[in-house]
Amino acid sequence: MLGDFSYCNPTRLYFGENSLDNLSKELANYGNKIMLTYGGGSIKKSGLYDKVIAILKESGKEIFEDPGVMPNPTVEKLYEGCKIAKENDVDLILAVGGGSVCDYSKAVSVSAWCEEDPWDKYYLRMEDVDNRIIPVGCILTMVGTGSEMNGGSVITNHESKLKIGHVFGDNVFPKFSILNPVLTYTLPKYQMVAGFYDIMSHILEQYFSGTDDNTSDYIMEGLLRSLIHSSEIAVNDPENYEARSNIMWTATWALNTLVAMGKTTDWMVHMIGQSIGAYTDATHGMTLSAVSMAYYRYIMPYGLDKFKRYAVNVWNVSPEGKTDEEIAKEGLARMEDWMKRIGLVMNISELGVTEDMLDGIANGSFIMTGGYKTLNHDEIVNILKASMK
Ligand code: NZQ
Ligand code: ZN
Repeated sequence: MLGDFSYCNPTRLYFGENSLDNLSKELANYGNKIMLTYGGGSIKKSGLYDKVIAILKESGKEIFEDPGVMPNPTVEKLYEGCKIAKENDVDLILAVGGGSVCDYSKAVSVSAWCEEDPWDKYYLRMEDVDNRIIPVGCILTMVGTGSEMNGGSVITNHESKLKIGHVFGDNVFPKFSILNPVLTYTLPKYQMVAGFYDIMSHILEQYFSGTDDNTSDYIMEGLLRSLIHSSEIAVNDPENYEARSNIMWTATWALNTLVAMGKTTDWMVHMIGQSIGAYTDATHGMTLSAVSMAYYRYIMPYGLDKFKRYAVNVWNVSPEGKTDEEIAKEGLARMEDWMKRIGLVMNISELGVTEDMLDGIANGSFIMTGGYKTLNHDEIVNILKASMK
């Protein structure tokens, strides 16, 4: 491990089939006014909404509902949520849904009492929070983002065609998160596998950086092996509890800051994927899968040793009689086979990207410097071109 760091993760997790039983105990820690945020209706269909309302009422809470949080939450929706939170002076934001609802709730939590425009302050100027923060609790229904145990909050501004994530500090992490794998069974297959790839991408963004011998890399190889194994089971048998619970747990550890310790981290696939999201509003995980193969094939020569290690330790490629490059390429080929097998989108045309958007998408992709190759604008355009089919 190289570098100095401090590590703290203050989110309390409740995991398992009976984890919702802990909600009333947690609610007792907060005042009476609860803002309930949720998405477009999946929680009503699944019956979770009724269960949560019943627990809130039994706990004597006053409920302020904020429905309709869309996938890839927008800045306009954020302003709406801030109004509800501030006018009612809510004591807790209870997010019930996927990463979008959790991210949105964190954005409202730091923005409701912010005197300035939160988009400018947090997303354009990337400033820290210096005002009152409303605590957030999550009940997770979709697996992938890790938002349940991190400070990430991604907001989309369609007008300026920017989708930007602010990674807040541990004062903004959810105070608690309830993780019941059964709640994820109702996800459509498209969303389920998009979430699986989001997990893989989070791990790879951190794994493909650095050249030192680092415990974080060994942890990530274990997480990747578990994800690959369980995903193959879950696509054929979505109600396999063992597989879905392993994936849920892997998702949390993939992006709860632990495996980033001692790593410079890459995040270029996410930067390009987010920019594609700003143009197309496509499902987050699919924006990542659609550019990944072109990206990794391009940077592989710059991080050859790591790509070789990835092939051998994660994809079980036998190194015997092969050059380093052959081994690394075989690893990426196995990864691509797995992606196709589980049903991921493999090109950006399918997400609605057209040639005339490529320059703008490249402009909207923030350039990160922690990976094996710092890309320039033209290189991003070339990766996008290679991802068109
Ligand atoms: O809105 P509802 O009706 O709930 O439907 C949602 C939505 O349409 C549906 N869904 C969720 N749980 C369900 C369900 N449908 C049936 N049964 C269930 N149990 O799934 C759709 C997608 O939900 P969403 O929350 O948008 O997906 P996800 O969890 O992938 O979140 C995506 C957002 O998170 C951001 C992304 O950029 C995107 O805006 N990210 C957040 C990160 C973080 N906090 O660290 C990191 C990630 O890299 C990512 O950028
Ligand atoms: Zn992601």
